[in-house]
Amino acid sequence: MAFSQTMLRLAVLLLMISFSLSNRPDQNSIPTSMPPLLYPRKNISFTAHLIHRTSPESPFYDPKAKHGDLIRDGIHTSLARAHFLGRSTSVQAESLIYARSPVRIIGIDFVMSYSIGTPPVKTFGVADTGSHIIWLQCQPCRHCYKQSIPFYSRYKSSTYKSIPCGPRCESVDATKCSKSIWGETCSYHADYIDKSSSKDDLSTETITLADNGINGETILEDMIFGCGTENVDKDTKPPGVIGLGNRTSSLIGQLAYPQFSYYVFTNSSGTHGWIHFGLLATTSGPTTPLVPNDFGHYHLSLKGISVSGQDVYYDYMDYYQGPEYEVEFAIDTGTLYTVLDMPIYNALRSKIIDEVLDEEPQAYKETDHDISFELCYKYVPDSPEIEFQFANKMQLMLCKSNTWVKVPNGLHCLAILKASVGISVLGMYQQRHLQVGYDLSINQVTMYYKVPCPDNIE
Ligand SMILES: *[C@@H]1O[C@H](CO)[C@@H](O)[C@H](O)[C@H]1NC(C)=O
Ligand SMILES: *[C@@H]1O[C@H](CO)[C@@H](O)[C@H](O)[C@H]1NC(C)=O
Ligand SMILES: *[C@@H]1O[C@H](CO)[C@@H](O)[C@H](O)[C@H]1NC(C)=O
Repeated sequence: MAFSQTMLRLAVLLLMISFSLSNRPDQNSIPTSMPPLLYPRKNISFTAHLIHRTSPESPFYDPKAKHGDLIRDGIHTSLARAHFLGRSTSVQAESLIYARSPVRIIGIDFVMSYSIGTPPVKTFGVADTGSHIIWLQCQPCRHCYKQSIPFYSRYKSSTYKSIPCGPRCESVDATKCSKSIWGETCSYHADYIDKSSSKDDLSTETITLADNGINGETILEDMIFGCGTENVDKDTKPPGVIGLGNRTSSLIGQLAYPQFSYYVFTNSSGTHGWIHFGLLATTSGPTTPLVPNDFGHYHLSLKGISVSGQDVYYDYMDYYQGPEYEVEFAIDTGTLYTVLDMPIYNALRSKIIDEVLDEEPQAYKETDHDISFELCYKYVPDSPEIEFQFANKMQLMLCKSNTWVKVPNGLHCLAILKASVGISVLGMYQQRHLQVGYDLSINQVTMYYKVPCPDNIE
């Protein structure tokens, strides 16, 4: 079956090539000996460590960061991500919350360590399901921001190649071919709504993943990446991004088996995780379909929510045009706290308040911002068990530690945010302790608790 799927993909790709050829009679830069595939997909499976920002191994590790700083950052990034992911689907494109907060769009919580070039240079990329390409700051820079690790320089690598103009260039999102006396260049552009960006040559390189004690060293040759010599980042300054979006140019799109799975958990020494690619990914278990969309993002379809077994009713008919009570619910590695679209959040909050009778609900406000968690209690209430029901009857019951977060003033808050963006987003805080798998060959996500979820609240 895998073989026939590969053949099918091959046929589709060939079809796409001939389509793009016949559609571009003016394209005179196509070499006469066309490579058989736009993207020769690599039949390689591997596992990588997901390094959390609270680990000293992370380039974003800040030994002085307090728990409250991480929470505040998580709130801002999560809301910004929801706006980013909802931008295209939303009727209310921009909102006040976004305009007012000093946000960034690349959620830096998890990075992957890898090496690039020959000889290899060690670097990091933010593992991002919202990005369509692998990119990194690349010397010689026209404009690079400071980074905490040495830069990669394309001229010092014997395996660096830039991608010329032509169908391979055009098939990547947001690329542009330009011709000058220096020759032709295919430039990419990765743009984020906090005005961070990276651009310059779309290129190929050898990427090496170190031996992690599971599958030895992995060498990926001829990987498409963005060599960023003009980069802007006001705030977080990641050395680069590893795009995991549904695109042929993302890391996952460049593999023969477009499957990946991750498992992230918190124990007393911090948050840890693994990500598996290709045939090593776990994509079995309870499944729900991915709703196809044009942005390469991952959208699930939410059928309902219940609190302690009782349905939560939310009125979504005003601006949702799909089948009744189906809500687009993105799943994202760059969002920390789950964000619910306003009508759903409000309905869920009232239902929980109805359930918790022995305590007065409170709100948590940050001093200089009006964004906050809106439902907090002094003691963690026992009763409300929140369950999300996705299409195909996949259920996600939030365990206690994924439901609540302890904020600096000692309150326990529902670790879910409200936004008015026409979409909801399942964040990583709620994906902890879950085995989450993506199979892009059949547009499906699987999800289940790998171990019994701990009850302690951080
Ligand atoms: C990819 O490699 C695996 C073994 O690592 C093999 O079982 C599979 O058939 C290969 N698939 C293709 C499409 O070559
Ligand atoms: C937490 O998990 C990590 C990763 O598996 C492990 O190295 C560490 O020892 C664990 N810490 C504790 C306190 O169990
Ligand atoms: C992923 O991309 C492929 C190719 O563009 C498309 O056929 C598929 O529907 C996309 N999947 C989702 C979930 O958007």
